[in-house]
Amino acid sequence: MEQKLKELAQEALSKVASAQDLKELNDIRVSYLGKKGPITEVLRGMGKLSAEERPKIGALANQVRAEIAEQIEKKQKQLEEAAIEKQLKEEAIDVTLPGRPVKNGNAHPLTKIIEEIEDLFISMGYQVAEGQEVETDYYNFEALNLPKDHPARDMQDSFYITEEILLRTHTSPIQARTMEKHKGKGPVKIICPGKVYRRDNDDATHSHQFTQIEGLVVDENIRMSDLKGTLEVFAKRFFGEDREIRLRPSFFPFTEPSVEMDISCKICHGKGCSVCKGTGWIEILGAGMVHPNVLEMAGFDSKKYTGFAFGMGPERIAMLKYGIDDIRHFYTNDIRFLKQFSIHES
Ligand code: PHE
Repeated sequence: MEQKLKELAQEALSKVASAQDLKELNDIRVSYLGKKGPITEVLRGMGKLSAEERPKIGALANQVRAEIAEQIEKKQKQLEEAAIEKQLKEEAIDVTLPGRPVKNGNAHPLTKIIEEIEDLFISMGYQVAEGQEVETDYYNFEALNLPKDHPARDMQDSFYITEEILLRTHTSPIQARTMEKHKGKGPVKIICPGKVYRRDNDDATHSHQFTQIEGLVVDENIRMSDLKGTLEVFAKRFFGEDREIRLRPSFFPFTEPSVEMDISCKICHGKGCSVCKGTGWIEILGAGMVHPNVLEMAGFDSKKYTGFAFGMGPERIAMLKYGIDDIRHFYTNDIRFLKQFSIHES
């Protein structure tokens, strides 16, 4: 029995010594020291031994067991350290390598213009409202006083999806939708940015998809002078305090009276040059007093409430502000063009 224990000890210790990983080591622990292991078995069989042999073998068995346990513990530490060492080596980084330069992105020039215009109007108490690019014929035209057979619909050749659904041709449907939500109660004071679509052939000044910003104010006692004052504040804050505005009569079915606003040319200050085509003025936006029909269709009492609305194209405004000569630059994503509007450079 003594011999057997010694052999077992040797066998176990050599297995421990050659164990490759923690799992293998644990298997060894279980098989030699576990309840069903050979040492436990020896201890169990001690009853059959003579009184003389018993303490000797008992002591030896305990010694063998302690020795194996100790070696397993040692080996476990070694294996754990080796694992950490290996991981450190694998994950080592060379801190002397030069870094990869991170390219700074910047907001698209149109996004910047739209946000600047939004901020300006937010500072005057407006709220931002958004609509949907796929719009119904009702909100895009009918609710804006453009019935189905209205000739003004020819002005806006549209992308129809079905007879009743189209890609919106302007941001004005947001006016109608927002007024409806107010259920006939003012004030309404919103600024509405968004993409719009028209069946134009793309060239330097036309794009089949572009952006607009719409403004709408509805309340009691809103007058044309409020519109004029608001547009003047916008023009001066946005283009410079030295700029003048003028309103020319125009026509939109959803406003009456309707106007177009020009600002004085910043190059020649009204004398006439090539930028303003000799007129001294540059057209900026369309506007007017909300047509009573539009108010009524959206549930407002047009005897009590009046309002004004205006709509402008951020592309045109960006082109004037930054001296850009082709609308297509906004959409072709040439990084050399876009980079010029980085906040770090402007
Ligand atoms: N929706 C008009 C357009 O697209 C612009 C506009 C908006 C005019 C609001 C008057 C009032 O041309």
